[in-house]
Formats: sequence, structure tokens, C-alpha cells
Amino acid sequence: MTSGMKNIVILISGAGSNMQAIAKAAEQERWAKTLSARIACVISNKPQAPGLAAARDLGIATQIVDHQQYASREHFDAALQLAIDACQPHLVVLAGFMRILTPGFVAHYEGRLVNIHPSLLPAFAGLNTYQRALDAGCKVAGATVHRVTADLDHGPIIAQAVVPVMPQDTARMLAARILVQEHLMYPKAVRALLSD
Ligand code: GAR
Repeated sequence: MTSGMKNIVILISGAGSNMQAIAKAAEQERWAKTLSARIACVISNKPQAPGLAAARDLGIATQIVDHQQYASREHFDAALQLAIDACQPHLVVLAGFMRILTPGFVAHYEGRLVNIHPSLLPAFAGLNTYQRALDAGCKVAGATVHRVTADLDHGPIIAQAVVPVMPQDTARMLAARILVQEHLMYPKAVRALLSD
């Protein structure tokens, strides 16, 4: 562990495209020099998450904490906490991490835990956000970066990005449009949190 460095730990469950956007910004904007910050580790709860290979390709250390290996949510969160804390994190970034976290875990990382959610919170917390936005006849949709509290998807809002909903949109089309904005917004938000 490099001393004096602000370690970022990124948690993923899937493609890890937001993780890659953050890693790209860290590289291009030389966060190691400008912010004394580095991505110390990418952790996935899914052994097959494609984002793991992407992280390795970027030279980032990876770990797997497979939730299926644990008898309860508490046991899984305890193991996850051990893996994260081994990286001495300044910031823990949830990037498509599809697990509900226990209140104890959230409390442990109070002030250090952020998430990105694909809706304009407080609208459409939870799953299927795109289809729910379409079904509600929303004219705009988007994504939210927020602090994580014990109240799922309802922590203080840090940043939001808005996209139009088009008449012919499918959930997939809307998701793709939102994801482009996530990739712009999340690295900026993380950078701002590191400079605080
Ligand atoms: C992103 O759209 C993110 O907002 C969403 O999962 C996707 C992950 O994509 N997160 C959630 O739904 C959290 N409840 P990625 O793995 O390519 O970054």
C-alpha cells in the first residue's frame, strides 16, 4: 500500500463499464499525481463478472467475494468488509454492484460510500428503472450519484444527469442513453469527492 495515497475501492457485479470510465479518468487526469488517489482494488460478488477481466487488463488488482458462498447477508457483508478494509479505502464506489447492503456495513463506511443508480432519484429506486420510467410516461430519465445510507437508494444526492425519453424508446435504448451520461458523471463526482 502506497502511504499517503487515497485508495479507491470499486465494487461491481457485471460489465463494470462505470468502473472502466473511472479508471480511464484516473489515468488520463493523472489522479495519482493531481489527487494522490488510486484505484486500489476492484471487488466483485460475481466470479464471472466481465468487469473483473476488464480491471485486470487495466492493471488493477481484483478480488472476488462470492455472495453465494455465504449463509447470510450478514456473513457476506462481513467478508466483503474484510476484503475492502484490507485496501484501506478512502472511498468505496459502488458501480453496478447489485447487492442490498446491511445497515452495519453501511454504517462502517459512513461518509466514504457512494453509488450510481439509473434513475432520477427519489423516483424509481430499486430495479427495472428504465421500464418503470417508460410505463410512467416520463419525458426525461437519467441517473443519480448519491451517498449510501441504510435507506436503499435514498442517500443524499451528489449529482444527477438527465436524458430525454424518446417516443419509440425501449428499456434497452433508454438504458444505453443513460449509461453514456453515467460514464461522464461518475468519474467527475468521484474526482470531486477526492478533492474535498
Ligand atoms: C449502471 O447502469 C448502474 O447505474 C446500474 O447498473 C449498471 C451497471 O453498469 N446500477 C444499479 O442498477 C444499482 N442499483 P456497469 O457494470 O457497466 O457499470
